[in-house]
Amino acid sequence: MQYARYGGPEVLEIVEREDPQPGPGQVRLAVRVASINPIDWKLRGGGMAPSDAPEKPVVPGVDLAGTVEAVGEGVTGLGVGDEVLGNASGGAYAEKALADAKGLVAKPAGVSWEIAGSVAVVVNTAYRVLAQLGLGADDDTAGKVLVINGASGGVGVVATQVAVDRGITVIGTASERHQGDVKALGATPVVYGDGLADRIRAITDHVDAAFDTAGKGSLGDLVALTGSADRVITIADPQAEEYGVQFSSGGGIDGALAEFVGQVAAGRYSAPETVVYSLDEAGKAQEDNRTGAVSGKLVLRM
Ligand SMILES: NC(=O)c1ccc[n+]([C@@H]2O[C@H](COP(=O)([O-])OP(=O)(O)OC[C@H]3O[C@@H](n4cnc5c(N)ncnc54)[C@H](OP(=O)(O)O)[C@@H]3O)[C@@H](O)[C@H]2O)c1
Repeated sequence: MQYARYGGPEVLEIVEREDPQPGPGQVRLAVRVASINPIDWKLRGGGMAPSDAPEKPVVPGVDLAGTVEAVGEGVTGLGVGDEVLGNASGGAYAEKALADAKGLVAKPAGVSWEIAGSVAVVVNTAYRVLAQLGLGADDDTAGKVLVINGASGGVGVVATQVAVDRGITVIGTASERHQGDVKALGATPVVYGDGLADRIRAITDHVDAAFDTAGKGSLGDLVALTGSADRVITIADPQAEEYGVQFSSGGGIDGALAEFVGQVAAGRYSAPETVVYSLDEAGKAQEDNRTGAVSGKLVLRM
């Protein structure tokens, strides 16, 4: 699946391509499942690009799961037939994809392909931001109070469980229909939107930090709750600079992905629920994610 110009889901087209050859440090995967992330349709829409067409056709998609079928020079620890998950390099919405071997982790047998293919981006993001907030695995986190704005989404579901596991009291925002889901993760659920700060103050008189996964205009409330822009991080709000809040982007934390899928395999963590589409439904899947019509982690099964 690729696009040669920016636009709506109609710019996506299925094409036949030669199998990509892994370079040094890379492997080629026979992809089983590729994940839909909001960044995929944001990039496809072109709003983040300086022109109306990319230099060359783009295969969308970041995270995936599949079976190693070719190994590039210098790769150690991975061989043909290994079942892995992680990030693609150069697009994931494809039957064959390249990936840097060092970012991949083994797929536990007890974890489905759908879950394996859908967690790398949200897990890497959740663990990274918790650490940036001083709520990492090695920090003194017991008894801290954290607001997660958007606790029912892909990043939120992961961040909430990891934070609760670290002894942090989590207040998680979601829509009315997801209040029960947030509670089941161990957080105190609150409905997002106007009056958010007052609803949270009715629960606690102290908030140590806030993690905004939603990017929907809540930074003013979150800064007021924590008392300082330094205690708030967003991964999605374009007004971050205006509020003096850090906008976090980048990769993960060593070991985070293996730990999370290990906990899922052990039945201790729940992965975000998955909804499956076929590769030729990629445009519909992206639209369903963009509009919020379908909740959960949307995935493409090859
Ligand atoms: N910077 C980075 O490194 C990075 C990495 C990953 C993702 N992101 C960005 O982070 C965002 C979330 O990603 P995701 O995969 O977690 O998305 P997602 O699964 O679609 O989750 C979105 C979350 O936002 C909540 N939400 C919707 N409207 C809201 C509002 N007005 N106020 C507060 N919360 C609201 C949703 O709650 P309900 O479902 O209950 O409505 C849900 O919990 C996307 O914009 C994505 O591009 C950034």
